[in-house]
Amino acid sequence: MVRATEIPLADILPLTAGVTDAGHLTLGGCDAVELAGEFGTPLYVFDEETLRGQCRAFQEAFQSRYHNSIVAYAAKAYLGRAMAGIIAQEGMSLDVVSGGELAVAASVGFPAERIHFHGNNKSEHELREALDYGIARIVVDNFHELHLLNGIAQGRGLRQKILLRLSPGIDPHTHAKTTTGTLENKFGIPMPTGQAEAAVRQALDMPGVELVGLHVHLGSPVFELEPYAEAVDTVLEFASRMRKAYGFEMAEFSPGGGFAVAYTPDQHAPEPAVYAETVTSTLRESLWRHELPAPQLIVEPGRSIVARSAVALYTVGSSKEVPGVMRFVSVDGGIADNVRPAMYEARYSALVANRVHDERRETVTVAGKYCESGDVLMTDAELPPLEAGDILAMPAAGAYALAMASNYNLSLRPPVVLVKDGQAKLMRRRETYEDLTRADIWPLE
Ligand SMILES: Cc1ncc(COP(=O)(O)O)c(C=O)c1O
Repeated sequence: MVRATEIPLADILPLTAGVTDAGHLTLGGCDAVELAGEFGTPLYVFDEETLRGQCRAFQEAFQSRYHNSIVAYAAKAYLGRAMAGIIAQEGMSLDVVSGGELAVAASVGFPAERIHFHGNNKSEHELREALDYGIARIVVDNFHELHLLNGIAQGRGLRQKILLRLSPGIDPHTHAKTTTGTLENKFGIPMPTGQAEAAVRQALDMPGVELVGLHVHLGSPVFELEPYAEAVDTVLEFASRMRKAYGFEMAEFSPGGGFAVAYTPDQHAPEPAVYAETVTSTLRESLWRHELPAPQLIVEPGRSIVARSAVALYTVGSSKEVPGVMRFVSVDGGIADNVRPAMYEARYSALVANRVHDERRETVTVAGKYCESGDVLMTDAELPPLEAGDILAMPAAGAYALAMASNYNLSLRPPVVLVKDGQAKLMRRRETYEDLTRADIWPLE
């Protein structure tokens, strides 16, 4: 077995990646080509060591610098029952954004006191479910939700602890579709317009909610550190004004998630410790400057916990040569299991799992199998000449791929396996044709 550092794309593959004498990629000690044969493709392979390692790296990075920190995994990046179970075992909190994510977490008994509920249009039903489960915090996004929640909680004789999600008007310099902290964005209560102040004032007067903290999330992925420093200071300055004006004590503060990962070898994302150093040192300085007591710090990484741990495996099928123009190679997945390239020009790289060391190169466009011209996973990818039957491995596939997967063209969503020490355990089976018709009704009653 070749060491991980000696294989192509080592920096973006899971930590346990290796190569067999036959030139096959291995993940968690399992031969990727054999996994593809056993479970079929497309297949998502999660490496347990990389996943748990990131959970620990983030907790260690923040808690060693600022003791009163909690790390809440942002479930929207990827959630299934096994994932929720692993996050619970790692002692982390969970940030959910829907009744569905809450239900999956509840199905493995995820501790309610470690769940936070986000979202810009939570339904009354979802808020009731959250209160039924007794979740720790609701991060209120807008005035409508504030009044709705106050009414529901009051009706139950409860006082629900909340954070207010604020929109600070800070640009994190990422893709427009994944920017959330600017004023032209649907999330959060704007700060520069005076609306955030009004929300604090109203929340403090409401009997059904207890305002314990403030939250911002700038966008994702945020490669720069400066936007976090700016966000921390902006919120603390606001908290100090709210303290003087209304006696508001900010017991909890969250600068959200959005920490970047590398998807291609030319990208370089800061380590968890570098983000943690920026956030905690700015927090300390701002607390001192604004004469505020130290709050609990809540960070919400999603992508950076889970992206690198997974590799998507596809089988190469047809190809199309347009002489002098380009060569398309199609694989058996695409936008139905990973919409990111089509949705926001996300870039990936890949290697051939059945001949990792093949150094011959050609430039190809890797297309999916779905009926959309935009169903392209990689444009101008430099890969060994691909042949039908090759297994293409796409690293850094753990975040926002399966989470946004669909049944487009009535395809079956892929299986997910967890690998460790040469063993592969199924986390989710491939969907079946029966799954496609389970919720459909015919004949109509
Ligand atoms: C409020 C909030 N927290 C955390 C996250 C997680 O972001 P990421 O997966 O980039 O860490 C998001 C992503 O949309 C979010 O909206």
